[in-house]
Amino acid sequence: MTGIFALDLPWLTSRFDVATGAIDGVPSVQRYLADLRGCFADARAYEAALARGNPLVYSVASVEPAHGAGDLHYGLAVVHPGRVGGEYFHTKGHLHQWREAAEIYLGLAGEGAMLLESERTGETRLVPLGEGHVVYVPGYTAHHTINTAAVPLAYLGVYPAAAGHDYGAIADSNFRSVVVERDGRPVLLERAAFHA
Ligand SMILES: [Fe+2]
Repeated sequence: MTGIFALDLPWLTSRFDVATGAIDGVPSVQRYLADLRGCFADARAYEAALARGNPLVYSVASVEPAHGAGDLHYGLAVVHPGRVGGEYFHTKGHLHQWREAAEIYLGLAGEGAMLLESERTGETRLVPLGEGHVVYVPGYTAHHTINTAAVPLAYLGVYPAAAGHDYGAIADSNFRSVVVERDGRPVLLERAAFHA
């Protein structure tokens, strides 16, 4: 199956492992609890959790070809189960540097949700993401993923190569809402109300 293309691109096909979050031949970024300072609403609960241990919260393996402006990039992510002060483990979240860039998320395993927050209108949507779910993230939308179950949540995110990741805007102002466990179920709360 080689020689079909003028360039023997290493990206033409890859094997991925939903259990480990690995994609053959590409680097994976691990985010442990200690890397997520400021990401959880309850700072006291965060410090208490960190004193007990530093678990892996999520990993992302990214395939990022760089052949031209039309490239697509994709990442396989696994968010592990857990909570900090009732708030479910989640990714840091970001806007795209190129704000117009949209993204497709394909749920592969587990059960969770995506928090979407429009930078333009301030509207918030919590939508399901898990095995059998596809989520379309429009441009100008801050997004992160949340594991609301007791097993790992795995998904693939596909985005334009030019999208870029802007973590700073979220780190500065954070999402306006949090997803917390109440009576065994995920509930969306205003961050300010959760603090109160
Ligand atoms: Fe994204």
